[in-house]
Parts: sequence; C-alpha cells; structure tokens
Amino acid sequence: MEYIKYYDEIVKRRESCRNFIMNDVEPAKIEELYEYYNQETLLVPEIATELKTYSFDDLEKTEGSVGYNGFLIKAPHYLVLFSEEKDHYLENAGFIAQGITLKMTQLDIAACWLTVNDAEVAKKTIGEKTDKTIAAVIAFGYRDKDVTETRLDIKSPSNVEMIQSGTKAAPKISLDDLVSYKVYSQPLETEKLYTDLESALLAASKSQSFLNRQPYRLIFDDSYVYLIGLEDEITDEADKYLNYGILMFNFYAVMDSVRANAPIWTFEAADEDLKLPEDATYIAKCGI
Ligand SMILES: Cc1cc2nc3c(=O)[nH]c(=O)nc-3n(C[C@H](O)[C@H](O)[C@H](O)COP(=O)(O)O)c2cc1C
Repeated sequence: MEYIKYYDEIVKRRESCRNFIMNDVEPAKIEELYEYYNQETLLVPEIATELKTYSFDDLEKTEGSVGYNGFLIKAPHYLVLFSEEKDHYLENAGFIAQGITLKMTQLDIAACWLTVNDAEVAKKTIGEKTDKTIAAVIAFGYRDKDVTETRLDIKSPSNVEMIQSGTKAAPKISLDDLVSYKVYSQPLETEKLYTDLESALLAASKSQSFLNRQPYRLIFDDSYVYLIGLEDEITDEADKYLNYGILMFNFYAVMDSVRANAPIWTFEAADEDLKLPEDATYIAKCGI
C-alpha cells in the first residue's frame, strides 16, 4: 500500500464516532478484524493478549467502569482487548488495538476508544473469567450519518460533556509543536524531512488520545525518533500508556506502508542527551 494512500485514506480519514446506528456489522468484516489481530504482534510479542467482542447489553452492565465520566457510548459492538499484566502491556495493547481501529477505517467501520475507569469491575460485570486484565475497549459499528457532529476544541476538561453529547475531534497538535530536532524543543525544519518520514510523523500527530490532550512530543535526529511523555494532570496512568501505543502504531503503520522492513519501536534507553525538561520523560525510540 502506498504511504500517501495509507496516510490520506486511512489515518486522516479516521474520526471517533459517538453516534452509531444499532445495526450489526457483517460477521465477515468482524472475521477480518480477527484475522488482522491474529497476525504477528510487533511491539512486545511476548505479552499474551486475547480479543473478544461484546454487545451493548453486555457492556451496559459495566456500572460506569467504561467511558468518560462513566458514560458508555452506545454501539452495537465493543472490542475488548485482554492482556497479561507485564512491563509495557498497556503500550502494547494501545499499539495492537490502534491497528484494529485503523483496520476498521479501511473496512468503513466507525469506532471510538473508550477509557477504562476500573478494569476489575468491568471484567467482573461482563462476566469474563480470563486471568488477563482488560487493557483496551473500543466501541464500533456504523456511524449514524443523520447526526451532525460539530467540531470543538476539547483540550479542556470542561468539554467532557460536549464530547459525550456527540462532538468530533479537536484540531490535532501541529507537526511543529509535536516534533523537535535533536534535543527537546529545538525547532525542526520540516522541509528537510523526506516525504514518507513526514507522513509518518503527521500520522503520529493525528493520533487519538484521552480527551484529545496529546501529552507527548517527538524528538527526531538523523538516526532515531524518540517518544517523550509529558506530565498531564487529567490523563490517568492507563490512558497515558495507551496513548503512547496508539502514537507508536500510527507512525509505524505509515513507515510499514512504504518500507519492506519498517522500523520497530523499542523501550531501550536513549543514548543521546535529549535535554528534557523536568515534566518530560523519555518513553521509547524508533530507528529510522
Ligand atoms: C485511551 C483513550 C480513551 C478514550 N476514551 C474515550 C471515552 O471514554 N469516551 C469518548 O467519547 N471518547 C474517548 N476517547 C476518544 C478521544 O476523545 C478522541 O480520540 C480524541 O478526542 C480525538 O478525536 P478523534 O479520535 O476524532 O481524532 C478516548 C481515546 C483514547 C486514546
């Protein structure tokens, strides 16, 4: 697949959906999602995961443990990714589940990530017996095209209600704000980037995040892209790590669409001094 296509037709086209029609998605399409999921895991392959699908009746029982402020978006289906609780399992779950979300875009299925406020309660109330924990939940189905969603800036917590009442994504972080060169906050001259790398960085900048806060930055040098986490008092621990996995997938997916051996992210330490400020933490790097 050409990168222009992948970025323009999939990453850019994807938007969270909060107004679904309650018709089921065709079983053959759900089967395709499972086939996609069953491919090799790329971020932390040694972590075992399980993917299950539930109905609204199942998720309705979760007593406010899923969704912003306990508000569950009504959808015909929910994907729940269960995972072993090992180092980096949430970044890994974010990476895997984001792959499935973008696969949904490709299949014209609409989706919305849902925050998990209490993984234990959610697992118990849907009656799941697995030893693994709930790492990610995604509502999916077909968009109700009769409901017009308006575009709002939701970079403030007071906008939670507006999001719940069915609003679309805020504008995303610009490439200039997201990416710096060699050290933290040193401007990058984007015209120096070659096109596929620029598309991969743009894909990262369009990543979904909890309340669209995008509390992260990238540093680019001539060998690596480094992912840097920023402190954010609103994003909870689990969503923070899911956010990282989502961004890592978006970057990877565009690189993978143009290269035979797309580079893989690693959590190994950064060798360079990235001159990070106090509220910033090095997370992962990806050779380019
Ligand atoms: C970890 C995570 C949790 C989220 N939880 C919810 C949620 O509970 N309810 C909701 O309506 N949207 C949720 N979202 C969707 C974000 O609000 C949405 O991705 C963001 O506002 C950007 O909009 P976009 O997806 O249309 O680009 C979540 C996103 C992520 C990444």
